[in-house]
Amino acid sequence: MSHHFLCKQQQIIEGNPRGFSLELESGKFELFLVKHDGAIYAYKNQCPHLGIPLNWQPDEFLSIEQSHIQCSTHGALFNFDNGYCISGPCANESLTSLTLDHRDDELWLHLESPILVSKEVA
Ligand code: FES
Repeated sequence: MSHHFLCKQQQIIEGNPRGFSLELESGKFELFLVKHDGAIYAYKNQCPHLGIPLNWQPDEFLSIEQSHIQCSTHGALFNFDNGYCISGPCANESLTSLTLDHRDDELWLHLESPILVSKEVA
């Protein structure tokens, strides 16, 4: 398993999700962090519909009303707390949830095996 520093906890603000792109041995790995009702969630940046990234613009992961995570391609809506799709072509499927470790004020991504080569903010 491996742990990868992402950012400080206070950098993730409600209404302002943040994307990350990690270079792993297995290739590029994209994820995003989103805060809702005080909790921070991590999901793989991959829509269950076509397997493509959810966002067209950097850090744009929410519906206009900011009530859900939204895929910008066909508008699928996902719950914040479990990534479950409530509407759209992939209804009843879910985003891939990732494990976050909170270390003091830092957020670390916990992965089962891949090895990090470099990290950049998407
Ligand atoms: S690719 Fe996301 S809803 Fe179609």
